[in-house]
Amino acid sequence: MSDTKTLPQPALSALELFPRHFQGDAPYAGGIGAAWAPGRVNLIGEHTDYNDGFVLPIAVDRVAAFAGRARSDKTVRLWSAHFAEYARIILDGLPESFGEQRSHLPGWARYVLGVITELAREGVKLAGFDAVVHGDVPVGGGMSSSAAIEVATAQACMLFSRGGFTIGIEGATLRPMQVAALCQRAEHIASGVRSGILDQAASCLGRPGKAVLLDCRTLEYRYLPFDAPHISLVVIDTGVRRELAASAYNERRSQCEEAAHMLRDIIVRSEPQNPLASAVRTLRDISAEQFARYGPQLPATLRKRAGYVIAEDARVIETAALLERGAIEQVGPLLWQSHAGLRDEYEVSCFELDTLVEIAQQVPGVLGARMLGGGFGGCTINLVRNEAIDRLRRAVGGQYQARTGLQASFDVCRAAGGPGST
Ligand code: GLA
Repeated sequence: MSDTKTLPQPALSALELFPRHFQGDAPYAGGIGAAWAPGRVNLIGEHTDYNDGFVLPIAVDRVAAFAGRARSDKTVRLWSAHFAEYARIILDGLPESFGEQRSHLPGWARYVLGVITELAREGVKLAGFDAVVHGDVPVGGGMSSSAAIEVATAQACMLFSRGGFTIGIEGATLRPMQVAALCQRAEHIASGVRSGILDQAASCLGRPGKAVLLDCRTLEYRYLPFDAPHISLVVIDTGVRRELAASAYNERRSQCEEAAHMLRDIIVRSEPQNPLASAVRTLRDISAEQFARYGPQLPATLRKRAGYVIAEDARVIETAALLERGAIEQVGPLLWQSHAGLRDEYEVSCFELDTLVEIAQQVPGVLGARMLGGGFGGCTINLVRNEAIDRLRRAVGGQYQARTGLQASFDVCRAAGGPGST
């Protein structure tokens, strides 16, 4: 292993912990190494990914990390520093043995198993390894700790398989967006949530000082500047975690599919001469004008869901244009609008998230804020002038607990790089 000065802190901690949790008498086949991948925030474009729409995420300076050694057999042994428990995965028999192995594993290790299973399905050559898993992405807080673990797993498998397969832009076995798609499939089988590709793509594509505009249909992406020195991204955690979030997420996704299906039928009936009408597959294919004309024919709930998604997609495109011009301050109002849509039309916010956004709204210098990620708890993202950070911290400190009975935690994030290993 080379220089450790540039490693993220969780990778360093995992390296330090490794000899404490794994005996030196295992059949090791190489020296110690570390691999990591970042969590993300999403500036705007929530619940648009599985509608084939646009998202604008930013990888942050928080990672999930593995540190360990390759083994000469087909066993993976893991120690989670966060959960303080071991897990074991047997490579032989995957992908067929996935269901059986999953049922014996704790939640965090299922994501690792999911990625290893999908890599096995791709036919890549995998070696066993022992590793400590560490991280500083808040678990379950809407900053995609699971995607960070998944992408870090792919990176660790590449590192410990020593040439078995490679990840890279050109000439590699897997390109970054192929890793993202593979990790998305891993998330589906590990958790049962039919999530989109936002989180895994954001983690795979991270670049310091950049946001990524991703087209979730074509998977084409473009980097946009996100490096104004006088503005910060503040992530505030409500402290709320809700188990029901997974089923509500799948329900929202089905509602969008149903709305798109119904709109297609309505448009085909109303515009028999329009050759594009029958090509409507998802809400991505419905323009704002079409929605204004035909949306009122949808049942009320589906109308709200579709209305939100179509407007949010337009906000992403507007935000991208603003970032391109360096007009980052003007992004603020779009974040407030996004939150209002998620709260009133998509109905995935909650009292605690709304409270944090309301508090932020009263603080001069907070340019915009909204709930982040899937919803029903987790974090808000706040675009804040640096001189207002302390004001916001004091406002949250002074009001949030009194209004909710909970303690919020406060985090200032930076747009950071993607996965790495050493
Ligand atoms: C979760 C999912 C993503 C995305 C967001 C909402 O984070 O994993 O795919 O749908 O919710 O934007």
